[in-house]
Amino acid sequence: MSFNATPFAERRARLIASMQQAGGGVAIIPTAPEVMRNRDADYPYRHDSYFYYLSGFTEPEAVLVLIAGRESRSILFCRDKNLEREIWDGYRFGPQAAQQQFAFDAAHPIDELDKSMPALLADAPAVYYALGHDDKRDAQLQRWMQGVRALSRSGVAAPGSVVDVSVLVDEMRLFKDAFEIDLMKRAGVISAEAHCRAMRLSRPGLREYHLEAELLHEFRRNGSQYPAYGSIVATGANSCVLHYRAADAELKDGDLVLIDAGCELDGYAADITRTFPANGRFTGPQRELYDIVLAAQAAAVAETAPGKRFMDGHDAAVRVLAQGMLDTGLLDKRKVGSLEDVIEKGDYRQFYMHRTGHWLGMDVHDVGDYRDPPAADGSKPWRTLQPGMVLTVEPGIYVRPGEGVPEKYWNIGIRIEDDAHVTPTGCELLTTGVPSKADDIEALMRQA
Ligand code: GLY
Ligand code: MN
Ligand code: MN
Repeated sequence: MSFNATPFAERRARLIASMQQAGGGVAIIPTAPEVMRNRDADYPYRHDSYFYYLSGFTEPEAVLVLIAGRESRSILFCRDKNLEREIWDGYRFGPQAAQQQFAFDAAHPIDELDKSMPALLADAPAVYYALGHDDKRDAQLQRWMQGVRALSRSGVAAPGSVVDVSVLVDEMRLFKDAFEIDLMKRAGVISAEAHCRAMRLSRPGLREYHLEAELLHEFRRNGSQYPAYGSIVATGANSCVLHYRAADAELKDGDLVLIDAGCELDGYAADITRTFPANGRFTGPQRELYDIVLAAQAAAVAETAPGKRFMDGHDAAVRVLAQGMLDTGLLDKRKVGSLEDVIEKGDYRQFYMHRTGHWLGMDVHDVGDYRDPPAADGSKPWRTLQPGMVLTVEPGIYVRPGEGVPEKYWNIGIRIEDDAHVTPTGCELLTTGVPSKADDIEALMRQA
């Protein structure tokens, strides 16, 4: 598929328009640095999400400069063509081809950045830049500002303020356009297929890394560049460790496997969790807790709609989970009291200690404010959901062994996570390609 520069150019135009509304200025958005892993070997390169959002350009050593003045301009600084380096490392666009293919107004070699920036910043009312993320970049900006001030005798002024550009771009990124939703749907389809593959191939005696390999196989063969985050493949007691990473534990007959994994496709993440029995059949106690988590997820999905608040889904999930904890005896009614008491005092946190969701986009924990602007009384209500937002819905129950905790539930960790796109009428789940009902999971695993 040929590269479509239009969505990226439109985003640049929108950012420039909001800068112009605020009086104009110059935005500086660098991409991520390459990072050395160990002697001569670097980590797989991943561009910066802000930079990519506004450029579509994935090479390292690049900086985007947007000018919002009487005239507006987008300028890319990128690596120059270099036959010697291209023989070793592969193709580089170089400024000329990058300018054409990515629809910038101009492009220059990155080596010219230091020389060009003081002149570009001269007389700009403000610099739009995300300070405090990279010391080297911050120092570079300081040098450029000193460069402009050195020109003051020739009648130019240095920018009077530095504005955090990420505040403007975060708000744009929170609302996904049609191009982004399409990509996120494809990332969801590939990731769901990877979960199905892992379920089908699961059997006692395998190790966690075997299932991780199956996930990677499905991601890569469908064109995903890499996992969107370190895959969690956790069996037995490991399923109760929230940030566990796939390791070498053996899948035991009668144990559950919790997989939290999603691919990144052309810069966009999917984030799916499924929990299934290693041998294809839930035990009675596993199934009891599983159905509570599934019901909690359904309750949270029902609260994921325009006009609802970000935490409504969490509150709905907590209600179902807490009731389930009382019904199963995970929480002892005589000790903790009624459902309302459990919710108010937070006793459910012994078994459910995380939030039910987060924004999802280019970053798995994506940017965007979780609160609406302050109300008249100074309170900051949770964000009102609106069409175009994408968030995860991921309740769970994690039972560590403990005094008073019924033994039949010990070491059961369950999470069910799907990705929801808020639509004008409710929400659309992007990750339904992998079953989540216990019967459907067992049916899929019987096909193996
Ligand atoms: N996979 C990270 C999360 O679910 O938040
Ligand atoms: Mn998540
Ligand atoms: Mn997840």
